[in-house]
Amino acid sequence: MADQLRFDDQVVVVTGAGGGLGKAYATFFASRGASVVVNDLGGSFKGEGTSSKTADVVVEEIKAAGGKAVANYDSVEDGDKIIETAMKTYGRVDVLLNNAGILRDISFKNMKDQDWDLVMKVHVKGSYKCAKAAWPIFRKQKYGRVINTASAAGLFGSFGQCNYSAAKLAMVGFTETLAKEGAKYNIHANVIAPIAASRMTETVMPPDVLASLKPDWVVPLVAVLVHKNSTENGSIFEVGGGHMAKLRWERSSGLLLKADDSYTPSAVIKQWNKVVDFSKPEYPSGPADFVSLLQESMKMGPAQQGENIDFTGRVALVT
Ligand code: NAI
Repeated sequence: MADQLRFDDQVVVVTGAGGGLGKAYATFFASRGASVVVNDLGGSFKGEGTSSKTADVVVEEIKAAGGKAVANYDSVEDGDKIIETAMKTYGRVDVLLNNAGILRDISFKNMKDQDWDLVMKVHVKGSYKCAKAAWPIFRKQKYGRVINTASAAGLFGSFGQCNYSAAKLAMVGFTETLAKEGAKYNIHANVIAPIAASRMTETVMPPDVLASLKPDWVVPLVAVLVHKNSTENGSIFEVGGGHMAKLRWERSSGLLLKADDSYTPSAVIKQWNKVVDFSKPEYPSGPADFVSLLQESMKMGPAQQGENIDFTGRVALVT
């Protein structure tokens, strides 16, 4: 089909591809001509146990449909071994989908170090290790595509998931930096916050909602992002159930005070409304330019900040 997005001759590594979203990616890319490394440790959604069967089933399914796939059973914490499977079997890697994940949900009050550490290891260290092993290959061939997997829990917070939230927002910072460092080598990295029915979500969403959130409905956006013609780099997307949207940072127009002795908490309170005023927003891709802000602040007259305002601690009331 002339207008079908194809991935012939490309090697796509999918971590956590034994089920859920990962399986949907693996079967899709294989159906579009890619050779796929189907990685899965095969443990429970809490990260307990292992099984080679999980990845094998998906590889068999792909092969039965005429596609090319190889299984890898390592943990993403040993990402170099996953990339090694790709290199030994197919001799290249073009696309890395950092998808593997686990949950250890529990309130912050009751969270144990083990719950925190395991979630960090799988999501943050796992994504790092896979990308780290693929990076020199991408740089050498001046081509690479990375998708990291965040979550609404990371972007907005989620009750009982502070370990997972922290790990998932880490994926955003990680992606932004990979995007900046990779750009000149035609290595693009983007991050998605998906929503889909899987064993991870089947206990937290009602069946009718789950029915409209097939993992397959996350795949088309990912396919577009990792295609060789895509120029998207360093972007964050929400995707699920047919909906997709790009997210970005928003900065208020802000408050600039003269940086001298008159710059007191009272002076901040007096103009708090400017700190939180989003009527003229900026959409930054980097920090504010503090050097020019400082220069502007130096030029300001002394009387602008106002003094002698009581600090009540209830900032919102003083506007
Ligand atoms: P899933 O539990 O169906 O799939 C995750 C897969 O990762 C499993 O097959 C599991 O065996 C594998 N895995 C776990 N630890 C591994 C390790 N150390 N090494 C290799 N494989 C490992 O979950 P789902 O829903 O498909 O999740 C995929 C990704 O999307 C995860 O990163 C998850 O956090 C993220 N996500 C999913 C959402 C959803 O609505 N399903 C929402 C937000 C994020």
